[in-house]
Amino acid sequence: MSTLEIAKDLFFIERGYLSGNHFAYRAEEPVLIDTGYRSEFAETARRLDDLGVDLSKVGLIVNTHCHGDHIGGNKIIQELSGCDTALHKIGKHFIETKDSWATWWKYYGKEADFFTCTRTLEDGDTLQVGPHEFQVIHAPGHASDGIVLYNRKERILISSDVLWENNMAVLTMRIEGNGALFSVRESLEKLEALDVEVVYPGHGKPFTTFRGAIRMSKKRLDTYLQDRDQIGTDLLKKMMVFNLLMNGAVEEEGYFTYLMRMHWFRETVDLYFGGEYGAKYDEIVNYLVRRDILRRKDNKIFTTVKK
Ligand SMILES: [Fe+2]
Repeated sequence: MSTLEIAKDLFFIERGYLSGNHFAYRAEEPVLIDTGYRSEFAETARRLDDLGVDLSKVGLIVNTHCHGDHIGGNKIIQELSGCDTALHKIGKHFIETKDSWATWWKYYGKEADFFTCTRTLEDGDTLQVGPHEFQVIHAPGHASDGIVLYNRKERILISSDVLWENNMAVLTMRIEGNGALFSVRESLEKLEALDVEVVYPGHGKPFTTFRGAIRMSKKRLDTYLQDRDQIGTDLLKKMMVFNLLMNGAVEEEGYFTYLMRMHWFRETVDLYFGGEYGAKYDEIVNYLVRRDILRRKDNKIFTTVKK
């Protein structure tokens, strides 16, 4: 997966769906934007090392939100460097109060470590990354502390999980609240005012179809508003894949029992499908196998999606 220089000494590091994409500004005191998933830290460190970024000299980590796939390297890098860490004020509050629920870590069984958040970001702030100036835009819905970073001069948008090219990040109403759909819509409408040439998303490749991607996301929201079951089905599909990325190949026989112990699986089926756990499990697994997103081999089940 690629590493791209997107502005002078500012690099985009593409990862998969277990680790979010991240960024590094190469300098005497490097600045990082997001740090991947904890279990993938060796790869994160390798990619940064390839760029000549010395982790012991990092001055600042900025996180687009505090989900586990974006903050996984924070604690380790902070221990090495003593760097500052900046989050939107809501995320800073979650970290300071050690709220493993609002961060989604506990709900989805993600691995993550608390760290020390030393700086607060707010909507409208200017974030200076070396010579590059980014506007901080609060864009909640997927995550209540979600921000995107906009560089007007380069016409670059670091969109994190607020805007993807062909898909939408998972919506967790159980944590984000029943108004989350409307928060997502408002966040997308905020972005519409920007002049963007290239979008660097939290997952997936960079893309130039900024307006098309917003249109697609809004269309998906309309579907969700008309048929709430779609929210549940999409969540189950996405989180089952994410769960298999975390766990690797698992024995299929015990997997349903395992999922029944996870908050997200049981609650989502309760919320949207009246507790039909077994039927919903079969439907989602069969759908994902048909689409070759999951595969079966030697009584095990695994995903073909890249980490
Ligand atoms: Fe993410």
